Amino acid sequence: MEAQRDQWATKLGLILAMAGNAVGLGNFVRFPTQVAQNGGGAFMVPYFIALFFLGIPVMWVEWVAGRYGGKYGHGTLGPTYYLMARESLKPRSAFWFGVISGMLAFSLTVLLNSYYLHLIGWSAAYTYFSAAGSYFGQPTGEFFSNYLSNHGQVMLFWGITVILLAIAVGQGVSKGIERWVKVMMPLLYIFAILMIIYIFTLGSPVDPNWSTIDGFRFIWTPNWSYLGDHLWQVMLAATGQIFFTLSLGMGIIQNYASYLGPKDDVALSGIATVSLNEFAEVVLGGSIAIPLATAYAPKIVPPDVLQQGKTAALEWIGQKFGLGFSYTSLPNVFVSMGDIGRLFGALWFLLLWFAGFTSAIAMYNYLVAMLEEDMHIKRSVGTWVIFLVYLIAGLPVIYINGYMDQVDAWVSFQLTLLAFFDIIIAVYLFKPDNFWRELHEGAWIRVPEFYKWVTLYIAPLLLLIPMIGYFKPLVQTTLEWPARLAII
Ligand code: PHE
Repeated sequence: MEAQRDQWATKLGLILAMAGNAVGLGNFVRFPTQVAQNGGGAFMVPYFIALFFLGIPVMWVEWVAGRYGGKYGHGTLGPTYYLMARESLKPRSAFWFGVISGMLAFSLTVLLNSYYLHLIGWSAAYTYFSAAGSYFGQPTGEFFSNYLSNHGQVMLFWGITVILLAIAVGQGVSKGIERWVKVMMPLLYIFAILMIIYIFTLGSPVDPNWSTIDGFRFIWTPNWSYLGDHLWQVMLAATGQIFFTLSLGMGIIQNYASYLGPKDDVALSGIATVSLNEFAEVVLGGSIAIPLATAYAPKIVPPDVLQQGKTAALEWIGQKFGLGFSYTSLPNVFVSMGDIGRLFGALWFLLLWFAGFTSAIAMYNYLVAMLEEDMHIKRSVGTWVIFLVYLIAGLPVIYINGYMDQVDAWVSFQLTLLAFFDIIIAVYLFKPDNFWRELHEGAWIRVPEFYKWVTLYIAPLLLLIPMIGYFKPLVQTTLEWPARLAII
């Protein structure tokens, strides 16, 4: 006897939950970082190619797979992919496809959360530090490293974040997750829009030669020569970003889609998720960090670099972009803004916290669903089991230097690997015609026929770029560890 599975209570709740799942730190921190480090407008060309020919088709594949699993009472990859692979394979072989994808999804989710939850915790801490003005009047770089070495404080903000996550997930899908995202997501969009309105009024706050418009120009002027000179690197960055930002290759889109009714629309809902995410990424995420950094360049770029001119300064900003940038250079900008800087900084970090939180809820729910459905552990118990798993997995991030980058390299590779499994299992083994039929079951729109070919041939080819690209550095850096640990 199947127990009655939880389902999304409202269409709006589902769409906001899916948007919350995809919209994360990737949109507001990782995206501007990738743009800045990959030639600005040079990055946007392969980015949009990857969006249309890789991101959108894989998003549909995952929605189809998720709803299909849900029909049989499954919200995790193992059993779902077993059922789908059965369309072409004998049960024994299908079983192995299920096992491998299930294990990949589990290890990926735990590894990603080992550092992702810390980043969300940092954002919570910095919301408070900004509002309280704690780093005002101090070197922001030093403040940040002091914060990181204060493990008690780091754990406190991590703990607040993860306990709230546990509460939300413990309440279930319709009564917990859906209610939380219905508050957080609209606020997130409102905060971002308020910040951008302010940015548009800024002009040149420090020096007439440096305006926010220069930042927009940097992103939106296609830079063909840079693209030509760094083709592989930029393509790799763009395809990798599409993956990360859409939350593909992890199993969490499938999990959320499994709480649909059997005839709920997946074609339109999938594209709505992509649109909400891309709006939050290229429109909102692209209009905050880079324009601000450019307008405040004279305050954050060293004078000798500034003297070499705009291109050199923008390059400097590009290289510096990244996590450190978000927690040191941007706070520097907030300090330079004067009184409003405290409010602006607090809004920015609270926005990051909401963005990260609503993605983390999806991942948390995946793991809890795994315990609940595949191992028959009660949700209320499973939630705290996962809390412990997260706690243990997160400790090395605090104590071992360089661990976070290493895990990130593993995660990036595994995401692409699992997405490859998505296409192999949920399209090829499930049979392309079944996939296409499922995609349109209950759908309000018809997906143009050529997307079937894109899904079958183009998406897997494009996927090879990050798979190959992430593999080499992964092996290289992993092999360095024995020597590194020997030093400790
Ligand atoms: N998409 C989320 C973001 O943009 C992060 C994420 C990536 C979540 C992969 C799950 C899987 O931050």
